Amino acid sequence: AKITYITKSGETFEYEATSGNLMELAVKNKVPGIDGDCGGVCSCATCHVHVAPEFYGKLDAPSEIESDMLEFDDNVSEYSRLCCQIPVSDLVDGIKVEVAN
Ligand code: FES
Repeated sequence: AKITYITKSGETFEYEATSGNLMELAVKNKVPGIDGDCGGVCSCATCHVHVAPEFYGKLDAPSEIESDMLEFDDNVSEYSRLCCQIPVSDLVDGIKVEVAN
């Protein structure tokens, strides 16, 4: 799947991936603003992104833990997700996410 990250400074990073999740892919490639401090267990919110609206509805709904985490983060929008909770799959091919931190 092709995944695009847009950082706060407006830089664009595009990658092809077949496994893992959007946090792991970003950390591996050192995308600025995605730190993945907790390793993907939904407890740090350093992987907060805003998902492009046309893709937001295609994703599985956030878990209660994820929603709770997001509630307390800065720069939250209706398209906010923790991208460690978004698995790479054909479903997200072409997705664009804006880095929130
Ligand atoms: Fe910590 Fe996603 S990596 S919540």
